[in-house]
Amino acid sequence: MTLRDDILSRDRAHVWHPYTQMQEYLERTEPLVIQSAQGSRFVDVNGRSYLDANASWWCSLLGHQHPRLVKALTEQAAQLCHVPLAGIAHEQSALLASELLARAPGFSRVFYSDNGSTAVEVSLKLALQYWAQNGRPERKRFLALTGSYHGDTMGCVSVSGIEVFRQSFGNVLLECLRAPTDAGGYEQAFEVLGQLLAAHAHELAAVIVEPMVQGSLGMRMYRPELLRALRELTTKHDVFLICDEVFTGYGRTGPFWASEHAGITADIVCTAKGFTAGMMPMAATLVTERIFEGFLGDGERTFYYGHTFCGNPLGAGLAREVLRVYTDERVLELAQGKAARIGAAFERFRDLPDVVETRSLGMIGALDLAGSKHYLEPRGKRVYAEALRRGAYLRPLGNTIYIAPSLNIPDTDLDELLGIVEDSVRAA
Ligand SMILES: Cc1ncc(COP(=O)(O)O)c(C=O)c1O
Repeated sequence: MTLRDDILSRDRAHVWHPYTQMQEYLERTEPLVIQSAQGSRFVDVNGRSYLDANASWWCSLLGHQHPRLVKALTEQAAQLCHVPLAGIAHEQSALLASELLARAPGFSRVFYSDNGSTAVEVSLKLALQYWAQNGRPERKRFLALTGSYHGDTMGCVSVSGIEVFRQSFGNVLLECLRAPTDAGGYEQAFEVLGQLLAAHAHELAAVIVEPMVQGSLGMRMYRPELLRALRELTTKHDVFLICDEVFTGYGRTGPFWASEHAGITADIVCTAKGFTAGMMPMAATLVTERIFEGFLGDGERTFYYGHTFCGNPLGAGLAREVLRVYTDERVLELAQGKAARIGAAFERFRDLPDVVETRSLGMIGALDLAGSKHYLEPRGKRVYAEALRRGAYLRPLGNTIYIAPSLNIPDTDLDELLGIVEDSVRAA
């Protein structure tokens, strides 16, 4: 039995894969079996390499196995891996908080957790508890756009608006009002969002958005002016604005935070993925001093929340090195030229057969194939298969084919990837 066969037989016997119809997986899927990775490439058990078109579920923003990050992780592992953050402070979490806040003007406190979903879950609970103990207990609903995605825990699913992910849980979720994005596009959606905000401000804990781009829906992008107007309205009605920067943060869209496009500061920001460059599960929720102060006082005002790995030294030490690499290697600056390449290529892809729309923002390029926008559309899968044959791992979202590679992908790899996207769309 080859190594590949051995891995696959055990995998098929025991592993339940995420976001996967397991019947189809067991009967018809030939998965990649990856053994290592380097830079913007995965390498399978047979030594074949594949360009990683989406930075490993959008988190490997500095490429795989970045030597400085591997070193930081190894050194920290040798010194201190874990210590509870309850009643204990440590160098890595303290210094990381101050270094992260230096990149996030307007915020003064960092609450650590494990992943994008927990970063969002923290933000929702903070908003609810803040109002409950600061004289506005009736503020317990949320407001969001349809098609939003904020993670998979119950709170996150409540404010997420991709129907197929919610349908099994609809009757047990938190209350969330929603402005539709599919009817008249984002201009209309934000107008409705504003109307809902004005009408329901008295009962809203927060509005939550993915700034500039709804990633999981299909890399759907909107104008910064809409975000700016939303900030003005939330300020006017004193409703918290939560910016979920789990996907967009750390330079994915150009600036360090996507909300910088609009020149706004939210009340709460959620970050994960790029936070540890995909090398450790760790996340943070950033809040303003006003929110923090709303939790000071007697025991009842305590935020009773915390995961085992909150602020763990291994992740925190790594996250600090990530920030240093951003500075030392001028990651955002050098990504500008790569973003321009992506923009130009996707502009060209408009002329490919069957392509109805293309768009780009920073290190994201996306195109829609003709057909419905439904999440389960199978056509993207054909492009996926064609790309795999040509040596690239894409992950289409329904009929949307996109790339979101690491920010430091070498230009030669990027050009090869763009060529594979073009050829695969033609072939499919
Ligand atoms: C905007 C956004 N928020 C939250 C999440 C959830 O992050 P995680 O998968 O780390 O729980 C994601 C994941 O893709 C995301 O894109």
